[in-house]
Amino acid sequence: MQNTNWNPKSWRDKIALQQPIYEDLNALEAIEKKLSKYPPLVFAGEARTLKSRLAKVSKGEAFLLQGGDCAESFADFNAIRIRDLFKVILQMAVVLTYAGACPIVKVGRLAGQFAKPRSSDTETSNGITLPSYRGDIINGIAFEKAAREADPKRILQAYNQSAATLNLIRAFAQGGLADLNQVQKWNLNFVNSAQSERFQNMADKITQALAFMEACGITAQNTPTLHETEFFTSHEALLLNYEEALTRKDHLTNKWYDCSAHMLWIGERTRNLDGAHLEFLRGVENPLGVKIGPQASREDILGICEILNPQNEEGRLNFIIRMGAEVIKDKLPKLLESIKKEGREIVWSIDPMHGNTIKASNGYKTRSFDSILDEMKAFFEIHRSIGTYAGGVHLEMTGEDVTECVGGMQAITEENLGCNYNTQCDPRLNASQAVELSFLIADILKKRRV
Ligand code: PEP
Ligand code: CO
Repeated sequence: MQNTNWNPKSWRDKIALQQPIYEDLNALEAIEKKLSKYPPLVFAGEARTLKSRLAKVSKGEAFLLQGGDCAESFADFNAIRIRDLFKVILQMAVVLTYAGACPIVKVGRLAGQFAKPRSSDTETSNGITLPSYRGDIINGIAFEKAAREADPKRILQAYNQSAATLNLIRAFAQGGLADLNQVQKWNLNFVNSAQSERFQNMADKITQALAFMEACGITAQNTPTLHETEFFTSHEALLLNYEEALTRKDHLTNKWYDCSAHMLWIGERTRNLDGAHLEFLRGVENPLGVKIGPQASREDILGICEILNPQNEEGRLNFIIRMGAEVIKDKLPKLLESIKKEGREIVWSIDPMHGNTIKASNGYKTRSFDSILDEMKAFFEIHRSIGTYAGGVHLEMTGEDVTECVGGMQAITEENLGCNYNTQCDPRLNASQAVELSFLIADILKKRRV
């Protein structure tokens, strides 16, 4: 690891893009000090485990499923939402494992996904201009002067909400909800009936297989992997004050870990080679993601590899492609071809959401299921033709029955968007659309195996 001249504060000497302006710097400092004494949210050993799982992804022995809200919200914080997102991710993972015959590494976009990069610093409505909403860890979403001021106290609220979320996720993962014998119960009532039936058929087969295994002596009691699951957390490491305060030296290895989540990623807008975000993340040992949009060059990607993964470790670095359904076909083949030659260890995944955002005729920000599917299929096809491994998907999704993305078997139309449009930021796949997508990915994985 290239730790020369690095410390958890060294990012402060570089330019950090997309940061809020805090009026009261003393208050901010007091909060940072407090947070730096609070317990870490994850343990360094867990981040190492995730790195080893991602190393398997880079070798084509597993598949990464990463998903959750665009932005978590303080107002919508409750157990049902966390449980339903967890259930849909389990459902998708079991579809991919069973139909695609591939081990799945599950990573939530949750328990810390609170800070948002924005395309504009300000928002104007009815002639009034206010600072943009930057996520609940920074300011409030209401279009009011007081709400839009950056308030450092929100940092502690985000930490507390993340701790409670993670606590529940750990309970679900280990306390019986993730037991494969419960697979029938993961189906959410409102999931579209065709999806639901397809999932139920698969769940029946799994239940039969478990009964057979039990007769052979393989039970949840003697085989813990049947009874519990591994589930990791991730978020965009955007607000570096928060990340720094949760960065701790691991006493087992004497190395630094950002203990706010198992995995952190850098967004498309903050991945500049000379910027504070790369500077901060190069010094922590967690597995890292970097979003790669349509403008990224070969030099950008190799530069990021050099800074974030100079030792070329397996499972350290995940490039998350988000170019859009049309651009990917034009740009990704050449890019991949030229990077393949360099022998870099890279986990490639696809975020088919952020390059496919459109404005519906009635003003809603939306994404179409068809474009999402199209970009995802192109991603798999391009990797197949070049001989690299398409390792995962990164989705904005929820366990709720929202109407934010158009299309899918539910055939959500632009007119339907207003029925249950709840997102704090970008449009998410609802549970039915997410499960539908997982069946389509499973088909691709199955074909690839053959
Ligand atoms: C996001 O993942 O919510 C996001 C802002 O992505 P990107 O950096 O790819 O635009
Ligand atoms: Co988003």
